Amino acid sequence: MEFFLDTANLGEIKDAHDLGLLDGVTTNPSLVAKEAKPFLDTIRAICALVGDKPVSAECVERTYDGLVAEGRKLAGIAPNVVVKIPLDLAGLKATRTLADEGIAVNHTLCFSATQALLSAKSGAAFVSPFVGRLDDISATGMDLIKDIRVIYDNYGFSTKILVASVRHPIHVLDAARIGADVATVPFSVFRQLVQHPLTDRGIDRFLADHAKIPRDGA
Ligand code: E4P
Repeated sequence: MEFFLDTANLGEIKDAHDLGLLDGVTTNPSLVAKEAKPFLDTIRAICALVGDKPVSAECVERTYDGLVAEGRKLAGIAPNVVVKIPLDLAGLKATRTLADEGIAVNHTLCFSATQALLSAKSGAAFVSPFVGRLDDISATGMDLIKDIRVIYDNYGFSTKILVASVRHPIHVLDAARIGADVATVPFSVFRQLVQHPLTDRGIDRFLADHAKIPRDGA
């Protein structure tokens, strides 16, 4: 399973990258706005930090022509930019054009399995089902991941299932059980994945006992 960081914060991206566990980055306009720096500069800086790993940069145009032009512009920033496009009709049409030009597209705001089916048929590299926002309205986000996995496996689609809107470690665990290809997680969740009180307590106890061992050569 691949791990992407869902942030535009350069410090968080550097920390995760330095750990050697980062496979990519996703951003959206809300995440970039939090950093209060120009959009293109931010994407450029993220791409420079992570080498050849995929970095999703989101389009804000709302027409086919606008999306294709914006997609080409974003893809021109760096070879590892993945153009993020909302999963509606204009987005599907623009994706086919961009995919035929060899530009990778990540379909964002996926909330149904039929949307995901069309996403794969349009040639998207990634589809991003938002599990947390479905949970927020009393639907079960992970049921969508299960459905998409079955559909993609039925037909051998190569579009990667990128679990998005992740809120806690159980989302990551469930996504891994289902066989999702990628989870994009906030840095806070990334850190939570390794935390366990018994590990911390165990380290403390071993260190305390190690201090009682007679010194070699004493
Ligand atoms: C990822 O690509 C999405 O932009 C992100 O996961 C959305 O998460 P949110 O629902 O917490 O805003």
